[in-house]
Amino acid sequence: MSFHTSKIFVIGATGAQGTPVVRGLVTDKKYKVVALSRDASSPRAKNLLALGNVSILEGTFADEEILREGFRQCDGAYVNIDGFNTGEKTEIYWAIRAYEIAIEEGIKFFVYGNLDYVLKKSGYDSKFRTGHYDGKGRIGEWILSQNQANGQRMGAANFTSGPYMEMAFSPMTPMVPTIEEGVVTWRVPLGKGAVVHVSLEDCGYYVRWLFDNPDRANGMDLEVAIEHVRYAELAVAFEKVTGHPAQYIDTDLDVYFGGPLKSAVDRPAGYNADPNDKSTMSFRENFTGFWNMWKYDVIKRDYALLDEIHPNRIKTVEQWLVRQEELGRERGTGGLWERLQPENFNQSHSILKSSEDRRKGTLGKL
Ligand SMILES: NC(=O)c1ccc[n+]([C@@H]2O[C@H](COP(=O)([O-])OP(=O)(O)OC[C@H]3O[C@@H](n4cnc5c(N)ncnc54)[C@H](OP(=O)(O)O)[C@@H]3O)[C@@H](O)[C@H]2O)c1
Repeated sequence: MSFHTSKIFVIGATGAQGTPVVRGLVTDKKYKVVALSRDASSPRAKNLLALGNVSILEGTFADEEILREGFRQCDGAYVNIDGFNTGEKTEIYWAIRAYEIAIEEGIKFFVYGNLDYVLKKSGYDSKFRTGHYDGKGRIGEWILSQNQANGQRMGAANFTSGPYMEMAFSPMTPMVPTIEEGVVTWRVPLGKGAVVHVSLEDCGYYVRWLFDNPDRANGMDLEVAIEHVRYAELAVAFEKVTGHPAQYIDTDLDVYFGGPLKSAVDRPAGYNADPNDKSTMSFRENFTGFWNMWKYDVIKRDYALLDEIHPNRIKTVEQWLVRQEELGRERGTGGLWERLQPENFNQSHSILKSSEDRRKGTLGKL
């Protein structure tokens, strides 16, 4: 059985993660992509079409007929179910159905957009419970165990990422920066811990690698990161690269939740999750576990493996910052310092489509 594919059904294609994944697949025209979106007329969907080799399937992942239609048109799949739409419980259901329907419809290689199963990795300590991580991580394990029986019919791999580095420079994210008396400031409850931030550009490379190397990738859990990013070091690197001052201020959880994210804290962590369902975590509950995971260094990465798979990967936060300065110049959007100034920052797009949609009042349905 060959697991080689040529046309990939991408769920989450218009998102922060999906966009570089699609770009990585189509850039040299080796793959075609069928991108799922609830709105084919959105600017992000149009930007994907402009890449070439992309078509849009309009619909929701919470619909078996749509899933079937997408999988039938393709021989590969990249599935990133948006847990910040569904909430943890519903995400688990649709991720399982996506895997099952993909097999039934003849997909040859299935890549699951995964996150660490932090509750398990912490030794089942509720202090670390993070619905948007555990909802994915349980299914990541389930897929790899299913794959032991099904792996000759449909290959499968997990792509386990982490918080995008871009989020520390974007409005409406858990690590949104502010400028305080001319100093770029991150006030987050991280202690001396570190976030395993990922580079979105490199996500495109890694996912492409999984489809290009399906025999090796079958059964793999590819866990990626730039490095373990300590925010005091992020501030130092920012100063070095941009020449402008920056600081990290370790912040108590209660103070953090009273900061820029105040209006969100009591909302369900999933904009279509049922607030009356006792399984639904609030934003505060979800992000308490999230920050504890980083503060107490629960999550590990095998950087030697990443160096082997992607020798030119971004290996330090300093390299990532240098690359952003280059991209800013190429795209005419200015350097990081300029982009963070309130007059630019408050108008700028969030890296997350869902945050952008919330600001525009266009958050979609399930
Ligand atoms: N933020 C991070 O740092 C990070 C890191 C790793 C993983 N994740 C995970 O990635 C997921 C979100 O993806 P993202 O980070 O790329 O966020 P995003 O920029 O907000 O994108 C969300 C994506 O999900 C799609 N989507 C949402 N509901 C859908 C539905 N019912 N049917 C079809 N498509 C739907 C959206 O497509 P349309 O709006 O076009 O329909 C969009 O492509 C979450 O599960 C999150 O936990 C996030």
